[in-house]
Amino acid sequence: MLENIPEIFRSITDKEFRILVAIENKMKFYEWVPIEEIVNFTRFDLKEVEYLLSNLAQNKLIHRKDQTYEGYRIYFEAYDLLALNAFVKRGSVNALGEVIGIGKESIVFDATGGLIDRHVIIKLHREGKSSFRHVRVKRETTGERRHLSWLYAARLAAKKEYDALVALYPQVSVPEPIDNNRHAIVMSMAKGQLLAHSRLDEPDWYLDEILSQIKKTYGLGIIHGDLSEFNIFVNPAGCEIIDWPQFITPSHANAQELLKRDIDNVLSYFNRKYRIKRNIEEIIRSIIA
Ligand SMILES: Nc1ncnc2c1ncn2[C@@H]1O[C@H](COP(=O)(O)OP(=O)(O)O)[C@@H](O)[C@H]1O
Ligand SMILES: [Mg+2]
Repeated sequence: MLENIPEIFRSITDKEFRILVAIENKMKFYEWVPIEEIVNFTRFDLKEVEYLLSNLAQNKLIHRKDQTYEGYRIYFEAYDLLALNAFVKRGSVNALGEVIGIGKESIVFDATGGLIDRHVIIKLHREGKSSFRHVRVKRETTGERRHLSWLYAARLAAKKEYDALVALYPQVSVPEPIDNNRHAIVMSMAKGQLLAHSRLDEPDWYLDEILSQIKKTYGLGIIHGDLSEFNIFVNPAGCEIIDWPQFITPSHANAQELLKRDIDNVLSYFNRKYRIKRNIEEIIRSIIA
């Protein structure tokens, strides 16, 4: 299904989008949206709504239940399309490419966008999808509709990651933030390749470079919180740090612990792979100084 998103996105009609928007809106009030509400919202006649719903159901973009009353709801895949549609309308995305990464809590596509049609990436957040997260999020989001808590978690994560990029770019070497809608963000494509997949000729130089980015980040009031060789790109000019939704600020109760863990992850990696030894306490002192 996920890999089909570009294909489905290209085939979906404006009227079908209108149906998805109707269900999205009415899900604020219903766990399963009655068909009459979809008719009211779209102002299409019942027969047409039924026809459009059956098309959408075929692509598994909506889910239907028949008990008590006929109702519909949408899941991540439909929200993906709604967010992509918003990006295309605003011009931050012109053409959707392929899936380039499936992370723990995201799906990442490449795309082109903007006036000069440059390479960008679209990150669709998936927080709240796994059941463990789901339970935790439910408790935290009192006031939010329970059946939407998974979406709420993903939206929050996308917004948070976007805010971090806005705060850091361009002082810190991070992707340029381009757009944010629902649970999705558009950003520039990181240059180079993942540190974890690289063989560096000058590892000391790269380690210094990464530590200096951590220091600048800290200076701007941000601690990554999930730093590792899998969230750092390296290229001939330096590095680029990605994946920011879990950042914290230095005033957070666990700030020192998480800063230390971030640095430790990086140092351990350079030690394992390149036999480089550094003193972590000294580095932390120089960062928070
Ligand atoms: N700006 C980017 N440029 C290039 N590739 C990216 C970018 N952002 C993410 N990716 C790719 O997608 C994968 C998952 O993205 P990431 O932000 O690390 O999310 P997760 O939280 O799921 O790990 C990354 O490992 C990387 O391969
Ligand atoms: Mg990651």
